[in-house]
Amino acid sequence: MKLGSLEVWPPVVLAPMAGITNAPFRTLCREQGGGLFVCEMITTRALVERNAKTLKMIRFDPSEKPRSIQLYGVDPVTVGRAVRMIAEEDLADHVDLNFGCPVPKVTRRGGGSALPYKRNLLRAILREAVRNAGTLPVTMKMRKGIDDDHLTYLDAGRIAVEEGVSAIALHGRTAVQHYGGTADWQSIARLKEAVSEIPVLGNGDIWSAADAMRMMAETGCDGVVVGRGCLGRPWLFADLAAACENRRDGAGGTDDRESGGELARPTLGQVAATMERHATLLAECFGNEQHAVADFRKHVGWYLKGFTVGADLRRRLATSESLAGLRQGLAELDPAQPWPEGVDAPRGKTHPRDRVHLPAGWLDDPYEVVVPGADAELETSGG
Ligand SMILES: Cc1cc2nc3c(=O)[nH]c(=O)nc-3n(C[C@H](O)[C@H](O)[C@H](O)COP(=O)(O)O)c2cc1C
Repeated sequence: MKLGSLEVWPPVVLAPMAGITNAPFRTLCREQGGGLFVCEMITTRALVERNAKTLKMIRFDPSEKPRSIQLYGVDPVTVGRAVRMIAEEDLADHVDLNFGCPVPKVTRRGGGSALPYKRNLLRAILREAVRNAGTLPVTMKMRKGIDDDHLTYLDAGRIAVEEGVSAIALHGRTAVQHYGGTADWQSIARLKEAVSEIPVLGNGDIWSAADAMRMMAETGCDGVVVGRGCLGRPWLFADLAAACENRRDGAGGTDDRESGGELARPTLGQVAATMERHATLLAECFGNEQHAVADFRKHVGWYLKGFTVGADLRRRLATSESLAGLRQGLAELDPAQPWPEGVDAPRGKTHPRDRVHLPAGWLDDPYEVVVPGADAELETSGG
């Protein structure tokens, strides 16, 4: 798969996930298989203001190639300045723009997944990003629209092609769906038909390599973006790489065993070793053990999903306050316990919303040129 001048193989992308896809988690995923591994979302205003916390988030391991940054911004000028800074200061090899965030405090101000409704604002942001990117490929990630009555993805796709974007990732849900229901893969097929000039990446509800192969077969998309399926499960990237190789050789079906050959099925002992490594890498990255162990707590349930582990030990692991405490708990796990059946099931957020909060009159004129205030970039928590 080609994203501008970047060759990406296998055509598999780790979805940007705020609070998750930092350098330590990306390292664990990259070790399993190739692809593109996008960092946590960075807001453009904070970047151009050289906010210290934001600059710290742009951390790549020296072995990380290509380095991929996701930006979120609402003002064409600020987005352009942020992209120029990345290009001129060689901060990354690829820039993705996030237009999928469904969080009320963001959409209420016209940001995130509310933004593509304003076609001319979207166009201006993409134009400034591409114009300032030099040779870096710029891609965009979006949802289908605000709700079923206000779909925007086909217009947004055409605008992206006209403005020189290198690829488009579509999460097959509207903003109002949040993470509820199932992703509509047909919309990915429709976008692929409408936007044949550049790669289309399908996103939503890939829980196994077989799901990824099925999405590519059913929609014709050029690659896949995997988010919640790899939470607590970096091994999924080994399955995805094997399945893509198999497919290239013409041998792959959409059944897991046909599409990927041997599947990565670590024992609980191997899972525990990865958990310890993850927490240790976080401590090195943050330079603060307590912060790292606290941040790691959210991963514990995902890593242990499906395994037989007593409630008390689970609780102790999820409330550890030091690496030593975490190690002590991990040592109590049964290392020989095999990978459980039925793990290829939804994990992470799964809830819908009842409505999308928008600025007053937002839906009145899709072509109005309006730039949301700077507060549309505050406290964003992803897509
Ligand atoms: C905890 C979390 C944080 C996320 N943060 C971002 C983000 O910063 N940027 C973005 O474009 N999408 C973000 N997303 C959305 C994912 O990238 C992805 O589009 C979504 O989870 C659907 O894919 P999946 O079904 O494979 O999980 C986030 C999702 C989750 C669960």
